[in-house]
Amino acid sequence: MRKILLTGDRPTGPLHIGHLFGSLLSRRELQDQYESYIMIADVQALTDNFENPQKVHESVYEVAADNLAIGLDPEKVSFFIQSQIPQIAELTVFYSNLVTVNTLRRNPTVKAEIAQKQKLFGQDGESVTYGFLGYPVSQAADITFVRGEIVPVGEEQLPMIEQTREIVEKFHRIYNCNIFPIPQAKLSPGSRILGLDGKTKMSKSLNNTIFLKDTPEDTVEKLKTAKTDSERRIDYDPENRPEISNLVLIYSIINNIKPAEAITDLENQGYNSPAKGYGHFKAQLADNLNGYLKPIRERRKEITADPSYIKNILETGRDQAIAKAEETMALVRSAMQINY
Ligand code: TRP
Repeated sequence: MRKILLTGDRPTGPLHIGHLFGSLLSRRELQDQYESYIMIADVQALTDNFENPQKVHESVYEVAADNLAIGLDPEKVSFFIQSQIPQIAELTVFYSNLVTVNTLRRNPTVKAEIAQKQKLFGQDGESVTYGFLGYPVSQAADITFVRGEIVPVGEEQLPMIEQTREIVEKFHRIYNCNIFPIPQAKLSPGSRILGLDGKTKMSKSLNNTIFLKDTPEDTVEKLKTAKTDSERRIDYDPENRPEISNLVLIYSIINNIKPAEAITDLENQGYNSPAKGYGHFKAQLADNLNGYLKPIRERRKEITADPSYIKNILETGRDQAIAKAEETMALVRSAMQINY
């Protein structure tokens, strides 16, 4: 029997090249090896976007289109929308007894997200909702309702997987059963790129992204205004010169070479001369990136031309996920003695 893989995205906007290099490409590799489920985590997106239901609704289709456009195969992967699986909500309620409020407050990812909100919106700690604080519990339900074992994620998600393991272990201990595999994070081998402002990660809310669905012209414009420094010398030195190094990293990924080789390559092509500044390099990078994204963008256009295509995939995936969920719930209800 193949191991079960589950991962997902929050639908808060279309996916960008940070997602592509950081997680989507490795998902594509893994789909042949595991029984795979990919969730569009609308319930989780609503924990901090509950006032923006329209954004979440629209983004569900964007995220589905992006995942399909990069070559995830609906014949191999079950794609589904989180809110369509009531068993996830049900498990979340049961698990919430197994986690203390203090543990959630100390969760490093939750903490970082609260800090970012405070910085961006000037919110104080008092505005943190019960739902937001509890989303790691809900994420444990996301992973375990299919009895998922392999969870491909970025590093910032490790505390969520750790929380899931703790819940699973506690559940087994208290209810004297062994229903779930202990989930393992699978860190994607892909490189983590920064936003075009050189700050932290690419993120829609920071407006520093290149979306998969951007037009070639948008891509050229965005790279033109990408932040660099005043040294007029292209180098790969992420510690000291994060902005230009990030552009070199993108160049190296799409050309399938190492960053050091990218520098030599750019020097040989005459892009690294102080007289030229960064403009020529940025134009070359935009051109390469547009070439790299072309098949993805074309596929995406085909996919979105027929709205029923995505709809059908999400319905089939929902049915597959619910079948799996009911198997799990029978075991859970029996272990918890709520099988009346
Ligand atoms: N928290 C993940 C993110 O922000 C999305 C997500 C929701 C997820 N449920 C999941 C990832 C379950 C892996 C497994 O990207």
